[in-house]
Amino acid sequence: MDAAGGAIHEKRKNGFMLSREALQICLEELGQKPSIRDLTLLNFSTLKNHPEMTISLSHNPLYGAALVADRKIYRSVGIDIELKNRNVGPAIKAKISHPKDFPLPGLQFWCAKEATYKALMNTSEFSHTQNFSDIVLSEKSWFHIPSKIEGQYEVKTVEDNVLALAWIKI
Ligand SMILES: CC(C)(COP(=O)(O)OP(=O)(O)OC[C@H]1O[C@@H](n2cnc3c(N)ncnc32)[C@H](O)[C@@H]1OP(=O)(O)O)[C@@H](O)C(=O)NCCC(=O)NCCS
Repeated sequence: MDAAGGAIHEKRKNGFMLSREALQICLEELGQKPSIRDLTLLNFSTLKNHPEMTISLSHNPLYGAALVADRKIYRSVGIDIELKNRNVGPAIKAKISHPKDFPLPGLQFWCAKEATYKALMNTSEFSHTQNFSDIVLSEKSWFHIPSKIEGQYEVKTVEDNVLALAWIKI
């Protein structure tokens, strides 16, 4: 389940708060009545009071996003939200690319790499950062070469944003 919240919020609210609000919406849609304490994260993917769920958060200056999934079905998830007007130039694209990547426009490509990176890191299998260029994007799936971990992803447009979701099933 994913939720994006944003344009209605005052400018003073930052991305951190917007992503927590998105998380709250997700939990409410799952029938929970989360208090602020319910939103305490033990790491990037676990809610202190709901360890049965695996989560991921993302934010930009105007929007926040959350992805929540059942650990019985999903090993981990990742989400990234980027304002549509963000420019991803050829140099950045080249740095994060693998020769076998499915061709996507710059921002969609960046967004997909970030979401898949978060899903990968949220497995808790890694103590060090991993290279985006080692995550190979196919049209709907992805593969991390060093670990052989694989998952699915999708990229879509939501209001003024590009939003990418990534997941690894059990
Ligand atoms: C994780 C990372 C991708 C986050 O991206 P970002 O654009 O800074 O920010 P986003 O808003 O999309 O996401 C931030 C949220 O991701 C989550 N997050 C942070 N580090 C994370 C990690 N290692 N794994 C999973 N989730 C992570 C957090 O919930 C964070 O929000 P919070 O600090 O408010 O709790 C980035 O900070 C990072 O660690 N990059 C390392 C690899 C890299 O730099 N690659 C670039 C190659 S050119």
